[in-house]
Amino acid sequence: MKDCFDLEALDHALERTPFHGKLHFFPSIHSTNTHALKQAEAGAPHGSVYFAEEQTAGRGRGAHHWSSPPGSGLYVSILLRPQIPPAEVLWLSLAAGLAVREAVRQVTSLECDLRWPNDLLFGRRKFCGILTELNAEVTRIRHAVVGIGMNVQQEQFPPDLGDIATSLRIETGRSWPRQELLIALLQSLHREISGLSRESAPAILRRLEAASSWVRGKHVRVEEGEGYWGVTEGLDPRGFLLVRTTEGVRTVYSGGVREA
Ligand code: BTN
Repeated sequence: MKDCFDLEALDHALERTPFHGKLHFFPSIHSTNTHALKQAEAGAPHGSVYFAEEQTAGRGRGAHHWSSPPGSGLYVSILLRPQIPPAEVLWLSLAAGLAVREAVRQVTSLECDLRWPNDLLFGRRKFCGILTELNAEVTRIRHAVVGIGMNVQQEQFPPDLGDIATSLRIETGRSWPRQELLIALLQSLHREISGLSRESAPAILRRLEAASSWVRGKHVRVEEGEGYWGVTEGLDPRGFLLVRTTEGVRTVYSGGVREA
């Protein structure tokens, strides 16, 4: 059976969340993140959700492309107007990773790994990525867009992605209803972001450390500037990854990490 979205049922399931009444579905769009950013500029409210059957120009972190064929994945962008200083926006991104992990666990019973800051993997292969984009003044976030791309029904990937990408279907040998995944994801994201405060930072750090094999003791190449190698040594109190190198401990402020 075709894996379709039922917008009315979706909206009903989200009644107790800020996303209720604010769902926007597109059979095909260039990029839900680009669209959400435009809508945010035009005054769309906190909690607006933009999702698509297909993206023709899906964007990943660091100018990468996000493969978004129809009927295969979840491509969703959530517009938020969070009451946190721009310096703390990393929490939003990290919390989104935890939210996706929890949603996948709820629906499929699968436990996935989190690669800092917020790639979701099974083993060495990635099935979900998050692109958080921001419009801010120095002291105030005007809006943030959390874009989530999840590979759900793909049975295979093009050769250039074959070694690094996976999907829920490849991992389990069966298909999963995207509607159920999207409901679980948005409910879980709602729980995470409504609990976001300074007080919850240590709790998020603890949960991230427990959920991720990448936070400690992993030999990595840091993709930042020229790039460098080291062994991960936990998260600092702001949520940034620490990496021990031959010259001492360095903090990863941007980019990401890959297994060395
Ligand atoms: C990554 O590079 O890991 C982040 C991928 C984010 C992809 C999602 S799909 C929905 C939203 N729209 C986009 O153009 N990108 C994000």
